[in-house]
Amino acid sequence: MTGAGAGQDLGGSFALGSWRVHRAGYGAMQLAGDGVFGPPRDREEALLVLRAAVAAGVDHIDTAQYYGPGTVNRLIREALHPYPDGLAIVSKVAARRDPDGTLRRYDEPHELRQGIEDNLTTLGADRLAVVNLRMMDPSETPGRQFDAQLAALVQAREEGLIDGIGLSNVSRLHLLRAVDQSEIACVQNLFNLADQRSLDVLTECAARKIAFVPFCPLGLPGDQRHRLLTDHVLATLAARLGATSAQIALAWLLDLAPNILLIPGTRTRAHLVENLGAADVRLDEAARDELARHRPRRRRPPSTTVPTTKEVL
Ligand SMILES: NC(=O)c1ccc[n+]([C@@H]2O[C@H](COP(=O)([O-])OP(=O)(O)OC[C@H]3O[C@@H](n4cnc5c(N)ncnc54)[C@H](OP(=O)(O)O)[C@@H]3O)[C@@H](O)[C@H]2O)c1
Repeated sequence: MTGAGAGQDLGGSFALGSWRVHRAGYGAMQLAGDGVFGPPRDREEALLVLRAAVAAGVDHIDTAQYYGPGTVNRLIREALHPYPDGLAIVSKVAARRDPDGTLRRYDEPHELRQGIEDNLTTLGADRLAVVNLRMMDPSETPGRQFDAQLAALVQAREEGLIDGIGLSNVSRLHLLRAVDQSEIACVQNLFNLADQRSLDVLTECAARKIAFVPFCPLGLPGDQRHRLLTDHVLATLAARLGATSAQIALAWLLDLAPNILLIPGTRTRAHLVENLGAADVRLDEAARDELARHRPRRRRPPSTTVPTTKEVL
């Protein structure tokens, strides 16, 4: 397996709004407890994972106030504060957790503002590199409510609470409407070898030099991730290239477009090293062709729209 080591370039870099970050980053969602709710399974390991990521050169960490809620942000603060220069902490707003863990919309303009302030408080930060407006349902047609939501984030940027505005779980329509109103730093959507329904959004982002950050790069939790990680074509390619199946899935993303930034999540330092090592895996033409032809098989045909993804956050 290719592992992360000192001096690795983590896939080079790409712009994240006004920031520039390595293409291999880290998603902190799973550091909260099971179901992304409550205390972590292993608190000490969670802190070690965060410190190991930064020590390996990671300068892009993805989080949300509603992971826990507050748990992941507080872990990031405990592990990494005072934050090193150049560390882009990216969060998202527009959802909150009920006391029983149920995820709710929290997406009125004043709630978005409150969401940003809550992130800043728990992270102990004055400013965030990017905040993503996380839509609950990407199939909703963007209209005046979407414009008002964007305006709330624009105001937060003008007041210096955030450096950049991102979008998450959106359609190409959302993106086109948003870029008419503001600079957009990134789009964070579900995208991986097994689910490429956001290809139109990725293509639009690439044309506009906007970072595209795939969430669930190893597949949706459960069956899709299991099938991807146990897929025989990936396993065969991995053996030939001296990598692991997870690394092939991540290397495929890095190879697909220069504006893709990775934030695979893990609770363990072993998987962190493995995932960062994906940036050193070189796909040859034969591997590219094979992956272009092959997708880990689905049991059910996909719907035609991007999922509402209430099962992921
Ligand atoms: N915008 C959104 O709506 C949204 C939605 C979902 C996620 N996100 C963000 O995107 C990040 C990435 O999503 P994600 O699905 O990768 O992360 P994730 O939901 O944090 O979890 C990834 C899962 O894959 C496992 N895993 C990680 N590396 C592995 C490896 N090398 N081999 C085998 N299993 C491995 C992890 O288990 P171990 O802990 O055992 O390694 C974990 O269960 C999240 O952390 C979050 O910050 C955003």
